[in-house]
Amino acid sequence: MSQKLLLRALKGEILERPPVWLMRQAGRYLPEYRAVRARGGSFLDLCYSPELATEVTLQPIRRYGFDASILFSDILVIPDALGQGVRFEEKLGPLLSPCIQKRSDLDVLKIEGAVKRLEPVYETVRLLRQKLPEDVCLIGFAGAPWTVATYMVAGAGSKDQAAARIWAYRDPEGFTALIDILVYVTAEYLIGQVKAGAEVLQIFDTWAGSLPEPEFRRWCIKPVREIIRRVKAIFPDVPVIGFPKGAGSLYEDYAVETGISGISMDTVLSLQYARDKLQPNITVQGNLDPLLLVTGGKSMLLEAERILTMMGNRRFIFNLGHGIVPETPPENVTELVQFIKQWRI
Ligand code: CP3
Repeated sequence: MSQKLLLRALKGEILERPPVWLMRQAGRYLPEYRAVRARGGSFLDLCYSPELATEVTLQPIRRYGFDASILFSDILVIPDALGQGVRFEEKLGPLLSPCIQKRSDLDVLKIEGAVKRLEPVYETVRLLRQKLPEDVCLIGFAGAPWTVATYMVAGAGSKDQAAARIWAYRDPEGFTALIDILVYVTAEYLIGQVKAGAEVLQIFDTWAGSLPEPEFRRWCIKPVREIIRRVKAIFPDVPVIGFPKGAGSLYEDYAVETGISGISMDTVLSLQYARDKLQPNITVQGNLDPLLLVTGGKSMLLEAERILTMMGNRRFIFNLGHGIVPETPPENVTELVQFIKQWRI
């Protein structure tokens, strides 16, 4: 049996202390990341440079000794690989063009080329498996089709994902065609990552919370279930963590129906709900508010302790409810990781 804590937790083992890693553990809050980033090129150039992407993936591992490492890339490499132009502008976030807002717009997407264009990411995964300490588990990832579609349709980040919702209501068949393309490319992309050495996969559905129940089932649960079916047809044992952020009381159905092995809680999900409805069936991950890492100190440690006390004696992975923000002082992360690593059941 593998000794890596994250794999053991995802198999349902109850451990002396939970494994810990943090979403966005690599990124702008780290001076060593900003130094690599400043070496020129765009954010996407960094994602497609196996040596540099490997380096920034390893930075938080060296600094903090996390139990898991998440591949450095972005969920928007998929639209980029499909041929929709993607750039990241300081302060504006991602910009995608042309917007994909109706069925005929899908003609610009180059489906067959996409999986090959993501080759540099698989190379990053291979390099990481060579360079990571042997007790650190490597997580690959992708965005869920719904969340990636919200960016492709709006051409940017949007508060309420209105453009994608409007297309999905107006022309569900046309929108299905976009989702089907994303299911195909995302499954192939994740399979490529596992072939290259990813040991766990996480699927980010950041905007799951903007859909009413029937649409949540249709555009979140169903496509993710299909992706997992395809990945598991080739790699039956690879654990997948789902993150249906904002799904509220639908977390339970997402956990049961998609085929995932772990589920990541957002900051607002109640721990009592997670303990009663999720933990009996699945490993739960989360859910410290990332803004507590900005303040640090007593308030952060008290909340970490509350989470550990409620969740830590069942199947559990310590993480945040969303990614680390750029304003985070790196020393607060040191304090948090030390606290989690010394905690015992
Ligand atoms: O350390 C890690 O977590 C691995 C790398 C990672 C990034 N993005 C790097 C990144 C991961 C797993 C993601 C996922 C991602 N990307 C999500 C899902 C999770 C979430 O945060 O909700 C989403 C929605 C995106 C799309 C995205 N990428 C946005 C909206 C932005 C701009 C906002 C911002 O924070 O700047 C990005 C850029 C991005 N992705 C950065 C990093 C380190 C910052 C870019 C920079 O260095 O200039």
